Amino acid sequence: MSVIPQENSKSRVRILPDDLANQIAAGEVVERPMSVVKELVENSIDAKSTRILIEIEQGGKKLIRVTDNGSGLSLEDAGLSFLRHATSKISSSSDLEKIVSLGFRGEALPSIASISKVHMTTSADEHLGGVIVLVEGGGSAQTKETSCPRGTTIEVSQLFYNTPARKKFLKGDGTESSHITQVVTQHALAHPQIHFTLINNGRKVIDVLPTDQHLYRIAELFGAELAKELIQVDTEYGDYRLEGFISSPVYTRSSRSAQYCYVNQRFVRDKVILHSTQQGYSHLLPKGQHPAIYLFLSMDPKLFDVNVHPAKAEVRFAFQQEVHRFVSGSVKDSLSGSKKLSLPMDHSENRYHTTSQSRQTDHRAVPASNFSEDQSSTRLSSAMELLYMDSTECSVDRESRGIMSPQVEIFHEKPSAVSNLIYSEFEPLGQLDRSFILMQGKPGILVVDQHIAHERVLYDRFKKAAKNKKIEVQQLLFPLTMEYSPSEVELLIHHQDSLSELGLELELFGKNEFLLRTVPAILKNNDKEEIMREIVDMLPAQKHEEALFEKFEDILIMMSCRNAIKVNMSLNLDQIRKLISDLQETEMPYTCPHGRPIALLYDMDSILKKFLRK
Ligand SMILES: Nc1ncnc2c1ncn2[C@@H]1O[C@H](COP(=O)(O)OP(=O)(O)OP(=O)(O)O)[C@@H](O)[C@H]1O
Ligand SMILES: [Mg+2]
Repeated sequence: MSVIPQENSKSRVRILPDDLANQIAAGEVVERPMSVVKELVENSIDAKSTRILIEIEQGGKKLIRVTDNGSGLSLEDAGLSFLRHATSKISSSSDLEKIVSLGFRGEALPSIASISKVHMTTSADEHLGGVIVLVEGGGSAQTKETSCPRGTTIEVSQLFYNTPARKKFLKGDGTESSHITQVVTQHALAHPQIHFTLINNGRKVIDVLPTDQHLYRIAELFGAELAKELIQVDTEYGDYRLEGFISSPVYTRSSRSAQYCYVNQRFVRDKVILHSTQQGYSHLLPKGQHPAIYLFLSMDPKLFDVNVHPAKAEVRFAFQQEVHRFVSGSVKDSLSGSKKLSLPMDHSENRYHTTSQSRQTDHRAVPASNFSEDQSSTRLSSAMELLYMDSTECSVDRESRGIMSPQVEIFHEKPSAVSNLIYSEFEPLGQLDRSFILMQGKPGILVVDQHIAHERVLYDRFKKAAKNKKIEVQQLLFPLTMEYSPSEVELLIHHQDSLSELGLELELFGKNEFLLRTVPAILKNNDKEEIMREIVDMLPAQKHEEALFEKFEDILIMMSCRNAIKVNMSLNLDQIRKLISDLQETEMPYTCPHGRPIALLYDMDSILKKFLRK
């Protein structure tokens, strides 16, 4: 048996005092105010609360107060709960393999209390009274008896007051509070039976009433419009079950902001689930677009390990490939078996059709053994792929802009010869496939992409008007009411002024609704709701000058693209002439705002050579 040597005055290796050890642990558990909210809310959920109120001030930096009506703590337990490794949730190493609570490490409260000032009031039974616990900067807990209702209130003030280096890294109040809104949204989604309220500087940001339906909770947080686009997922395979909702491929977002995945009701950022879901959609999604997903995976706790990182945002599956196959198969089957999929076909200007067979299939839970590609879904995928070809026109990503082909390409000849090509020297002949304008002139035959040529014209006009703050707006006779999730509301409030400069005048209406009062005149015939949805996805979370400029530039491009003449549209010669002369007036008439070439020149010399006339 080995003997552990005692520390003495000569030893260089020493055991750190508890308050310092707690501060070190806090480095991993508490990254920012959002982490405190996460830990406190998780404790309230573990305590079986049905009502959780979160109040914050100054992005949580000044104050975070979480009140619940859960089991509360007795006088004795209240004092113990601030000690390191003190937990009521596990007691032996075998418990580690079957964790059913959100917390289990017994380090959240001592970590938080080591870097802030904590005031807890709690009672396990209001008839027996309650207790107040005070801890400051990791000092010892002071307790005092009191009377209070059953449940717990924990107030965390002056976060990082004794660790200035950490405090320095905090962002502005707006950014910190949007992280908090996000974490409360994540928990509210997983626990529809709990009444959650989030109050930020006295303003109610989230207030969702209890319900036994996940879909109602989603609708309350993200709006009924989105909920209408959702398809139910409910599949089971061996030890796994996947429940929840995914959007039909018609409803997509340009970011992953509407993707929420859970394992046994714990929110996780898990690559396996996200990747397998995306794979389940296979070719149904336009390039660069993401579905909305609310997926709850459940399994025997023995089949995954949550003790990967102190923040517990990651899990490790025992059989990763099995999980991947199960999730992607479930998503695929839910999509192909759903009636919702017939929707995009109805809107497709009758250009592409799916078989009536796949349109009529009823949605039902499909066993995982059916995951092999069935014919109808393959057929459906290719039809959807064709359907989305048009809508991907605008999605050239920034990285690829730099490696675009020359502005005006010459057929096998030196590009410099036509770098200052003048469109007016060409005479329009007509259209090719109702999508490209054909023109002839001395230099040869010019082929102009009508969609991107018009996009360039609109973009230039729009940009000029935005710069001079002279965007022509259209007042909406009936302002449009749109619902947003709490974090989207925060974003919109943040960018309200800049959006109004683009002609989008928004007014906060109630808790999570905005009234859209004006739109830029060029968008008056577009689907305003869809455009607003796209814009919200594009808005940057942080007010970083450069990021802002880039994003608003993207919004301008998107709005121009939306309104530009489409491919597969007839134009008469007058319309063609007008478009070409407008194009000539722009600052850069040879590339679209994404960097793609607008025109290709098949030069006369090459044509003559090919016909052996030279
Ligand atoms: N709101 C609450 N209601 C009832 N009991 C609570 C509450 N908050 C904390 N506790 C008790 O205090 C203990 C310590 O909480 P703490 O968050 O530090 O650890 P944990 O939740 O057990 O594990 P983890 O560090 O993983 O969160 C918990 O195990 C629980 O018994
Ligand atoms: Mg905890």
